[in-house]
Amino acid sequence: MRFFLLVILTLSFAHAKSAYENGKNLYMQKGCYSCHGIKADGMNTYPMLANRAKGFLSYKLKRFREKISENQQQELMIPFSLDLSDEDIENLTTFLYEFKENNEGEKYDDSFRHWGGGS
Ligand code: HEC
Repeated sequence: MRFFLLVILTLSFAHAKSAYENGKNLYMQKGCYSCHGIKADGMNTYPMLANRAKGFLSYKLKRFREKISENQQQELMIPFSLDLSDEDIENLTTFLYEFKENNEGEKYDDSFRHWGGGS
């Protein structure tokens, strides 16, 4: 019996992913990227999250989870934080704080983009 427990434990550790990997998956699964960007660099009025202080990010997420927001803009975050566990927040903020995605090889070509001019 003990042997089997050991085998199961070993297997589950072997499968365990890093907090960074788990956080990255959550960031995609929960749709965070749709507002904060694939590279967590923010979009329009949605703040950049990459490489920001982990303590601050988790402080904010926990407040949103408790339905505390300081302004109407922040209200948007509440539905996205309600079902986050402490562990989810730990993983997400580890991912965001350590964010180090390879920025080479952009997936899209922006050479057709018009810069300014309103055309
Ligand atoms: C519908 C768009 C939207 C989605 C989806 C979204 N957010 Fe946000 N997020 C916001 C807005 C809006 C704010 C508040 C910006 C402000 O304070 O002006 C915010 C703020 C935050 C902050 C605090 C940053 C700061 O500078 O105060 C964190 C951390 C955060 N979001 C993480 C996440 C995570 C993690 C997810 C996915 C679980 C997520 N967000 C999904 C829109 C979104």
